[in-house]
Amino acid sequence: MKTDFEKMLNRSQTNERRWNPQYIEATFKINYNKNTIDSSIADLDFKTPTPIVEALQNRINHGTFSYTYIREDVLQAISSWYKNYHQLQVATKNIKLVHGTVNAMHQIVNAFTKIGEGVLIQTPIYEPFGRCIYNNDRVVVENKLIYENQTYKMDFQDFEAKIIADKIKLFFWCNPHNPGGVVWSKSDAKKLIEICEKHQVLLVSDEVHSDLILENQKFYSLLDFKVKNNYFIICASPNKAFNLGGLKGSYLIIENEEIRKKIDKIYEANSITSPNVFYPEAIKAAYTSKIVLNWLTELKAYIWANYQLLVKEFQTLKNVEIMKLQASYLVWIKFDDKIYDVKTIKKQMQDNDIIVNWDTDFYGATPGWFRINIGSPESLVRDLITRLKQIFNK
Ligand SMILES: Cc1ncc(COP(=O)(O)O)c(C=O)c1O
Repeated sequence: MKTDFEKMLNRSQTNERRWNPQYIEATFKINYNKNTIDSSIADLDFKTPTPIVEALQNRINHGTFSYTYIREDVLQAISSWYKNYHQLQVATKNIKLVHGTVNAMHQIVNAFTKIGEGVLIQTPIYEPFGRCIYNNDRVVVENKLIYENQTYKMDFQDFEAKIIADKIKLFFWCNPHNPGGVVWSKSDAKKLIEICEKHQVLLVSDEVHSDLILENQKFYSLLDFKVKNNYFIICASPNKAFNLGGLKGSYLIIENEEIRKKIDKIYEANSITSPNVFYPEAIKAAYTSKIVLNWLTELKAYIWANYQLLVKEFQTLKNVEIMKLQASYLVWIKFDDKIYDVKTIKKQMQDNDIIVNWDTDFYGATPGWFRINIGSPESLVRDLITRLKQIFNK
């Protein structure tokens, strides 16, 4: 492995949420100290690959930061990434650069539903899936995922029943799933598409973790399927794989012209126009550099090794289950809340200087779950495992 993923970075001065001592103390009401492990937010503990950093540095060196425009070379970079990395064709005219996936989801809710209408999501899920709905005075309709054998299954009967009962027009899908780390199968995707087609539901697929598919898993993008009238939107970005969330950019893939027009209109209505100066530089470097591609291959192997370590070390814990990780670096963990008192566990985590994302940080999750982040140096993951094992030692 060429990249030194073991190196611990000092990010106390970078003003990033997951690493800023003052922010952490104010948010989590804890005393930050040198032992604190913040294993929460979905950002990597690693430096962004050098070609991306250099592209940003080169841009800064120009010393001018005026308004931008939509560049064909940037759209071309996204298209070539899909061709080379995902073996999928994307025409540049179908790509829209936007200002983050969560923001895009808010725009989509406003463009395709009215106040008071229901929008369907599969829970538990990354909280903003619910937030973009209730923030806009729409109603969150939940199709609960079924936990079985350390993974999630879909309840298709309930999915269709909810669409009918709540007159659903819009469904947000998370593939790969956060927090579960599930890469949905071809047959799952086909069934979802069929039901959405049957009831003319707009299928919006959040694929932001799709560059991080782990060991032997096969990811099926919505682009792998023939969807009637191309009635779908894909939300994607290089942010999760390359630590670029703070640049606040992302993109949509929209093959249906009517949908594109509606999306353009809502962005214009909110005066959200050209991208910021930096994001196009970062995305172009991320998606066209061979060095970045090699870095990503190494990163995935490193994350997988961290995950295997976690699984091995947790084997002895009888009342804790780790979800099967198929994508990303986020691990969803279940403990038996009849054996462990949730309040006590939370207190023990705090006493052990561990910050995680609890069930309450996700939409529709139940007590007895938390999510950790293993996109970190192995030494840190080992330290985290040791502390967790002390807490869950019953
Ligand atoms: C599934 C999913 N969608 C979207 C986002 C955030 O995307 P953005 O920062 O582009 O809004 C995250 C961040 O963790 C995520 O896990």
